[in-house]
Formats: sequence, structure tokens, C-alpha cells
Amino acid sequence: MAVEQTLIVVKPDGFRRSLTGRILARFEEKGFSIKNLRHYNFTKDKAQEFYSVHKEKPFFNDLVSFISSGPVVACILEGNNAVSTTRLMIGVTKSFEAAPGTIRGDFGLGFTDNIIHASDSPESFIKESRVIFG
Ligand code: CMP
Repeated sequence: MAVEQTLIVVKPDGFRRSLTGRILARFEEKGFSIKNLRHYNFTKDKAQEFYSVHKEKPFFNDLVSFISSGPVVACILEGNNAVSTTRLMIGVTKSFEAAPGTIRGDFGLGFTDNIIHASDSPESFIKESRVIFG
């Protein structure tokens, strides 16, 4: 077990629905520390950079449009196994299949609009957090 950092992003649908506080509370209750926090508006360029791993995918343009459609809240969290534990807490990508008790499972039904993003590896955390926090 190692202390790690990861990035979570409350996406435009989660922010618009005023779920930010409830979502951040879950991570605090779990024991993670908030190391950095930013209200942020993705430009199209920054969104393309953030999601560059998906650039060949057929849904790439939808993804970029969606994440840049309104404000997000990005947060760097620190704690034991931060990358894998936050991924467990957010649930699977398709919110309509996500288990109850997970963030996507409790708060949404969408696919592209799936409320929250969390880095899937320490390498993704470094790359993604640089896009948002510089
Ligand atoms: P996220 O965890 O932010 O990582 C990539 C995102 O792409 C994912 O959440 C979804 O929002 C989106 N996504 C993945 N697969 C598809 C798909 N097949 N169609 C539309 N959106 C997708």
C-alpha cells in the first residue's frame, strides 16, 4: 500500500447539477486529503490535450465538446492507493451500469456525461494534472 496522488474532475453535468460538494465529501469521508482544487473551464485545445489518449476513438469529438461545455471542478487527492481506490469509488464508465454506492451508480445514467473523471494510472495523473494545474 502506497500513498499516491490522483486527479478527479467533476464534469460539466455534475457541476451543473450542484453535485460537487457531495462528490468531494465522499472522498474526504473516505480519508483522502485535498491537495489542490480548481474551478476550471476547458478550452477545446486543453480538452483535446487532456483526452489525447482517445484521439483516434470515434467518440473523441463528442468527448471534447462535452468536457468543454461548462465549468468543471478539478481536485488533486492524496491517500493510500489513490488511483485504484478513486476508480472503484467512481464506478464503471457507463453510469447506467455502475454499481449502487459508486458515484456514477448513485448520481447518473449517462455515458459521455458520466459526472466524474478519475485518472486511470499514475502516469495519467501526471499528464492530466499538468493540463489543468500547469
Ligand atoms: P472518462 O473516465 O472521462 O474517460 C474517457 C471518457 O470517454 C469516459 O469517461 C466517457 O465519458 C467517454 N466515453 C468512453 N467511451 C465512450 C463511448 N463509447 N461513447 C461515448 N463516450 C465514451
